[in-house]
Amino acid sequence: MKICRTKQDIRDTVQRFQAAGESVALVPTMGYLHEGHMTLVRSAKANAVRVIVSIFVNPTQFGEAADLAAYPRDEARDFKMLETEGVDAVFCPAVEEMYHPLKQTTVLTEDLDKVLMGALRPGHFKGVCTVVTKLFNITGADKAFFGEKDYQQLQVIKTMVRDLDMPIEIIGVPTVRDVDGLAMSSRNVRLTPEDRQAALILNKALAFADYEVSDGRTGPDLEQEIRDFIAREPRAKLESVDVRDAETLAEVPSTITRPVVILLAARFGDVLLIDQRVANPA
Ligand code: PAJ
Repeated sequence: MKICRTKQDIRDTVQRFQAAGESVALVPTMGYLHEGHMTLVRSAKANAVRVIVSIFVNPTQFGEAADLAAYPRDEARDFKMLETEGVDAVFCPAVEEMYHPLKQTTVLTEDLDKVLMGALRPGHFKGVCTVVTKLFNITGADKAFFGEKDYQQLQVIKTMVRDLDMPIEIIGVPTVRDVDGLAMSSRNVRLTPEDRQAALILNKALAFADYEVSDGRTGPDLEQEIRDFIAREPRAKLESVDVRDAETLAEVPSTITRPVVILLAARFGDVLLIDQRVANPA
């Protein structure tokens, strides 16, 4: 497995693969890898000849400096996991390699940027779009894989690629969970044992909502039921509950007749967790 710390190195590596007629899939990550990331890697391997993974904790998508500083890192462990999985190359640039000191340009999906997680964390998706655009441009990969766990992120990136004619195919991969149902996240290691247990309420609330969705409810009805359900867990500090059209992320004020995505964000201690599920009323 080749470890590339410069843009030039990863670009040359990808070009060599492509010159040999090999397709290249990119899996962008912020490291501290877990089974969720590894599932993206396996999907990528199944869909391309070569797989490259980027590991870059992107400062421009973090709101609070404390959240960025607390983000867990373990490069040696990440490399070992990727090597075992048969990844061809890793791109892990320093912040100074990635961003020009006089940078001026950003990428923004105008409406999607302002709703849901975008409203909770202003600037977050602008940071994501900009770094993902850079990763696409730097690597020149043919395909890129993203998790449905970050549902809005996946929609934002698909929209950006469509609107700006980026020559890359975006593939979404379903959320990977621990056996007890908690969505895997690099943040989970920061949970106390009590909060880890309490956080199971998120997946339970999604299962409950999935069951309730077909009963002629409106979006706001379902949101209220989910709020009441999560209120049973005193350790959960709910930040948001949103029932949205699964495709457009628009609100659903009337009876739910099309697939919706249920998006949850809650804090357990100081750890912000998110989870989602697409529910079909049919
Ligand atoms: P990160 O949180 O490291 O996630 C990298 C990728 O793994 C994302 O596409 C995310 O949706 C996916 N992922 C995380 N947990 C998952 C799970 N339990 N099941 C399935 N997929 C999962 O998302 C980012 O990094 C960054 O915003 C990034 C896109 C790299 C841009 O900086």
